Amino acid sequence: MLKQMLVRPTLCIPASYYKVQTFDLTAVGGFGHLVAFLRLYARHAHQQQLYVRAMAAPLKCLVNDDDRYQKSFQLFLDRSSEHLCMKDFIHNMLPDILASVGNGKSRLNVIGVGSGAGTIDLEMLSQLRLKHPQALVDNEVVEPSSQQLHNYRVMVGQKPDLDYITFTWNKMTASEFEEQWRQKNMTKKADFIHMIQMLYYVKDPGATINFFQSLLDKNGKLLIILVSGESGWGKLWEAYRSQLCNTEISQCVTTADIKSLLDARKVPYKSYELPSHMDITECFTEGDHTGELLLDFLTEVLDFSKTASPELKDGVLRLLRDPQCSVEKEGRVLFNNNLGVIVLDALS
Ligand SMILES: C[S@@+](CC[C@H](N)C(=O)[O-])C[C@H]1O[C@@H](n2cnc3c(N)ncnc32)[C@H](O)[C@@H]1O
Repeated sequence: MLKQMLVRPTLCIPASYYKVQTFDLTAVGGFGHLVAFLRLYARHAHQQQLYVRAMAAPLKCLVNDDDRYQKSFQLFLDRSSEHLCMKDFIHNMLPDILASVGNGKSRLNVIGVGSGAGTIDLEMLSQLRLKHPQALVDNEVVEPSSQQLHNYRVMVGQKPDLDYITFTWNKMTASEFEEQWRQKNMTKKADFIHMIQMLYYVKDPGATINFFQSLLDKNGKLLIILVSGESGWGKLWEAYRSQLCNTEISQCVTTADIKSLLDARKVPYKSYELPSHMDITECFTEGDHTGELLLDFLTEVLDFSKTASPELKDGVLRLLRDPQCSVEKEGRVLFNNNLGVIVLDALS
């Protein structure tokens, strides 16, 4: 009666998978064979359910696992010219930007949002010192990762000559800092605020910029650094934004997005492009631990190699190697990590 049992999955499953679910019952002879067949079928059905569940489960965001996030971020720093190109900008362009801040005040207020381990913050503070050698500095550090905040504090403790700076350590997110600021009815104004590679992690980047810009004193500057819209990141996100981790706490945002937002609001700004690259060669070696961590950082997905569908993994790896995103040099794959800088003045 029942000649053929076809198990057609209701979700999107590759044809190669559901082929194994097609059984010809004419080939099943005798009761024993039928039982064996049903057992086999049950196992396939179970596998199918697991597969369906895996397909349906949303990918987990890397930022939910601070330990792995910090590991992959450190690896990214080791494998990229990220901090090198920032330092270049800080030494060559930032001094002119900082020259006018403070308007001759003897105390300068600085706020660092998403400071990480503080390497780049201290680099900027030393340029501020060179421009304003007489001024004392109040530095609010806003950083939710206790590990990073600890690293920053240790580094400060080891550096001589920082006694002109008073550090206030705020172990919190940008929005918690904003809430605290409002609750305390703070009227203090800031001379220099920076957000280096952190706007990806706020719910509403536009509102965050608006709030921090409103804290600027006359002649104050707000410095934002994010990946450039022309970088490999921009191309990766154009193609895969909706399939990667694009949630409230981790968004695919580039300086091109921020510029459009500011243009729409008619907020003036200055911008700069910083060429940078990241060596992603190991990402293309299956099972390579370094490659897997780098892939997590690139996709912002926790355990991307193990949890993404084969289709998504193939597509992402193909695009990462594509000339839109990377160049190949002396056997290495160099991903375009160009950064964009945006500088805002105080609201007028
Ligand atoms: C990519 S790292 C950049 C660190 C540092 N600015 C640098 O360039 O080396 C992003 C930093 O933002 C912090 N962060 C994440 N979510 C945040 C939030 N909602 N508010 C403020 N900082 C956040 C992370 O803990 C991390 O230290």
